[in-house]
Amino acid sequence: KILILDFGSQYTQLIARRVREIGVYSEVRAFDITEAEIREYAPNGIILAGGPESVTELDSPRAPQCVFEMGLPVFGICYGMQTMAEQLGGQVAGSNVREFGYAQIRLDAETALFKNISDHIDHETGNSLLDVWMSHGDKVAEVPAEFTVTASTPSCPIAAMSWEEKRFFGVQFHPEVTHTLQGQRILEHFVLDICGSERNWTPAQIIEDQISRVRDQVGDRHVLLGLSGGVDSSVVAALLHKAIGDQLTCVFVDNGLLRKAEGDQVMETFAKHMGVRVIRVDAEDLFLGKLEGEADPEAKRKIIGNTFIDVFDTEAAKIEGVDFLAQGTIYPDVIESAAAKTGKAHVIKSHHNVGGLPETMKLKLVEPLRELFKDEVRKLGVELGLPYDMVYRHPFPGPGLGVRILGEVKKEYADILREADAIFIEELHNAGWYHKTSQAFAVFLPVKSVGVVGDGRRYEWVIALRAVETIDFMTARWAHLPYELLEKVSNRIINEITGVSRVTYDVSSKPPATIEWE
Ligand code: XMP
Repeated sequence: KILILDFGSQYTQLIARRVREIGVYSEVRAFDITEAEIREYAPNGIILAGGPESVTELDSPRAPQCVFEMGLPVFGICYGMQTMAEQLGGQVAGSNVREFGYAQIRLDAETALFKNISDHIDHETGNSLLDVWMSHGDKVAEVPAEFTVTASTPSCPIAAMSWEEKRFFGVQFHPEVTHTLQGQRILEHFVLDICGSERNWTPAQIIEDQISRVRDQVGDRHVLLGLSGGVDSSVVAALLHKAIGDQLTCVFVDNGLLRKAEGDQVMETFAKHMGVRVIRVDAEDLFLGKLEGEADPEAKRKIIGNTFIDVFDTEAAKIEGVDFLAQGTIYPDVIESAAAKTGKAHVIKSHHNVGGLPETMKLKLVEPLRELFKDEVRKLGVELGLPYDMVYRHPFPGPGLGVRILGEVKKEYADILREADAIFIEELHNAGWYHKTSQAFAVFLPVKSVGVVGDGRRYEWVIALRAVETIDFMTARWAHLPYELLEKVSNRIINEITGVSRVTYDVSSKPPATIEWE
């Protein structure tokens, strides 16, 4: 397994995912990890990741010096390379000018890291060239005495360096992003050939490990799970069912704000096909009743969250002998970030979890996805036999249609929105666009707009369509859907749904607009 030290870069988690894609377990820890903690984790090698700061400043983060004294291979990427150079006696030059984008590096010396890797050949020198992605300001100006410069570009003369005997490597570019064509092979060289890690991090193996861990933890006692139909809780349900069968009880709360047919699909998949014990609570009237007259988005979110907790608690109290609460917490929720530690957080994700359950219920937690990234959770889901469409479905917010009906929520609006959303999603699938977008949905606008039907003018509701492409949901671009597709969706919505006279397409990016409309 590999240890990845985070210096605050947005790319750190991506490195961890890439290493895991190779089939090797990796964890992200903050840069100020202690030697004892490293020994306890017992990695085969360490990756020093990137970061937004400058090693030319005294108070910027450094790797613990022991990292270079433990006899382990070390791979510094971007900031990681710079701090490695600086900590081992080299020099880093500060710069306010960023080099950002494609670059072609020339390989200048043999190194295990780039062995047999080449995108092009430099016809003058016969050296190999690699297409890479750069994103840096500072750069290494002088390598430490024992190091060799292994790659260069005209603007970055020390683009890679190594001390082969010690198995220390540094690259200024980003092997973890796909724009670096051979990036995955470079990581494989480090992780497999140089560190000698074994490839045993596979969905089947993860499932087997988790099943035995859950069995150890739970014994013959009972576990409760709030099943939402989302990817994470669905995978937890399938996994726990496999591990402990009838010792698992799921509670599925239908709050009346779900997508079309969603409740039935959840019951069909879990209760009917898999034989999972699922209690379905039809709480539409309760939720809509509590939401009546409330138009403020944050108040709506709170009402939906609190009502969920009430309903869930009430159901849970009816089940006897429950000792554990299962949750679909995933790895990005638990990574301790370097950004938070240096106090210079540049990515802030605050919102959204319902929360509050464990405290009120005094149950011990079962969190079998705690170590997994979303893409790994999905692969596990497929391996566990969940339907592909469920596992690869777009994310859906906890408050559901409650935040997609602007202002006051009414059943009439929710019913119209469900139909419009279903038409949009169906046509995205038909046109092969669903999986090219990261999230797509319809929004209900409670304004009356005019339409002409026959001889008369009719004032009816407006539906907005939203489709975005994003990697991390922190920034997003509106999807450039084909006009024909938008036309078809619009025609179908207006013709098939009574009460809608107009459809619009949202062309705002995030930031400043958010993905949801409320
Ligand atoms: P925004 O609208 O903030 O959305 O750009 C980013 C992502 O978060 C989802 N989202 C929510 N998820 N509860 C949730 O569980 C919420 O209150 C909530 N608000 C937004 C949104 O769907 C998108 O994927």
